[in-house]
Amino acid sequence: MPATSTDPGAVILTGDRPTGPLHLGHYCGSLRNRVALQHGHDQFVLIADAQALTDNADDSGHITRHVHEVALDYLAVGIDPELTTICVQSALPALCELTQLFLNLVTVARLERNPTIKEEIQVRGFGRDIPAGFLCYPVAQAADIAAFRATLVPVGADQAPIIEQTNEIVRRLNRQVGHTLLPEARALIPESGRLAGVDGRAKMSKSQGNALALSATDDAIRAAVRRMYTDPDHLRVTDPGRVEGNVVFTYLDAFDPDRDTVHELKAHYRRGGLGDTAVKRRLETVLLDLLAPIRERRTAWADRPDDVRDILRDGTRRARGVTQATLEAVKDALGLYRVGR
Ligand code: TRP
Repeated sequence: MPATSTDPGAVILTGDRPTGPLHLGHYCGSLRNRVALQHGHDQFVLIADAQALTDNADDSGHITRHVHEVALDYLAVGIDPELTTICVQSALPALCELTQLFLNLVTVARLERNPTIKEEIQVRGFGRDIPAGFLCYPVAQAADIAAFRATLVPVGADQAPIIEQTNEIVRRLNRQVGHTLLPEARALIPESGRLAGVDGRAKMSKSQGNALALSATDDAIRAAVRRMYTDPDHLRVTDPGRVEGNVVFTYLDAFDPDRDTVHELKAHYRRGGLGDTAVKRRLETVLLDLLAPIRERRTAWADRPDDVRDILRDGTRRARGVTQATLEAVKDALGLYRVGR
């Protein structure tokens, strides 16, 4: 279930790399928090195309195409452009300038120690050929967060070290200028942890082929549920089954609004006498009910590409004002030379 903010004055920033369609993992980890938090908070959502280029330099066309797709996913899940400012990172030059200033506040050794980056370097098999932009993306992300003066960042658990590094940079800058120029940010991480892939692997990821896209058709949803990992030792319906690590139950926990029914199903499954097919049928209904309206809204927005472009233009324009103002404040505080207009 969505996490809640305890700070009504929080400024919220989140973002996604537009590398592919958003999936249920994004929904569970962050998107539904955003939908809940947009009421009563100042919220910005950044389509992080510049960050996506840090490990996709040779495929900018792919990234650019997905800017629009990610915007459709946002609108489809109910992020309301009247309540949330949706903006495009590469169209916000203040972020680059702030990144450049921030780069002087971290060491290469600290960048190399960031556990998220370490893991991502491994996964991507960069070896010694790490793009400098990739190694430095946590600094750029610190600039994103600081530029919006964000105090709350709803992200998956894997992003926590990046928020930590952001706060180190912000503290260093504040110390240097002698006052709290920029606020520190808090990561808002969903209690449920990250959503497992449909195959039972720890993380849902498009590149691992175990993701269910928010735009999935009914047939794709049914097929994903059918091949979903359960308890491999639960051979006969009458056998007692294991709920822990059983992806079908993980998903029911994450998405079934009827907690009592889930509770009963779990007890029954543990006792024995409840087959995988029955539990899967329940999950199928839950996911079809969840995703059908999302898909309908997506289709409706997809038919209005000009309106989507207008939303991104207006949001980016607004974000330009906010981020530019922060950049000016940082330049002033650092006492950079001003040539005047
Ligand atoms: N690194 C984030 C991700 O991969 C995307 C991102 C870029 C972001 N800038 C941000 C998230 C600022 C939160 C705040 O999902």
